[in-house]
Amino acid sequence: MELKDKTVAESKVETFHIIMPADMNDSGRLFGGALMNWIDEVAGLVGRRHAQMNVTTGSVDNLRFLRGAYLRDMVVVSGKVTHVGNKSMEVKVETFVEQSDGKRDLINRAYLTMVGIDENDRPARLPRLILETEEDKKEWGRAEVRRQIRRKQREEGFHFYDEDD
Ligand SMILES: CC(C)(COP(=O)(O)OP(=O)(O)OC[C@H]1O[C@@H](n2cnc3c(N)ncnc32)[C@H](O)[C@@H]1OP(=O)(O)O)[C@@H](O)C(=O)NCCC(=O)NCCS
Repeated sequence: MELKDKTVAESKVETFHIIMPADMNDSGRLFGGALMNWIDEVAGLVGRRHAQMNVTTGSVDNLRFLRGAYLRDMVVVSGKVTHVGNKSMEVKVETFVEQSDGKRDLINRAYLTMVGIDENDRPARLPRLILETEEDKKEWGRAEVRRQIRRKQREEGFHFYDEDD
């Protein structure tokens, strides 16, 4: 199948969740692990829609819990591609609590690197990202800075501090 270059809008994904008792931690807030699951799921869906192939999560950066969320809150997890390299892409995922009047409060932001995977389970070249709007272009510029930082950290051996290395 020939892969099609896509716009940012073509692969956007939003999922909605109502916080249930099973999603809570013992302090009465949304359990971080539950939210990370939803974030990874959205990034995987965005990645697959853009890539038109399987993708895997290479890394998660800058995952920041900005505010808590509580039982019965409506949570919206919203993801889009911000940058496409050769075989990897950056997906930005923002999470909001949506009030009954539709107003959204940001509770989490994360950047995931998703890697395209071919039928032999090896990294594969991805379709290009078509930048349509000023916002798409701004996001691309910011993502390029993060990509350089990630590369530098890998080159410098960010794992240096792991005890068993
Ligand atoms: C992610 C994975 C496929 C990368 O394999 P690899 O052989 O190192 O890949 P390559 O060196 O060919 O790099 C491919 C692309 O991925 C990027 N990449 C690889 N590892 C990365 C990491 N940890 N963080 C960010 N980007 C990464 C590279 O920069 C490259 O990007 P580019 O082509 O856009 O420049 C491999 O490490 C893997 O399978 N990891 C486990 C993933 C997984 O199972 N995730 C689910 C969560 S358990």
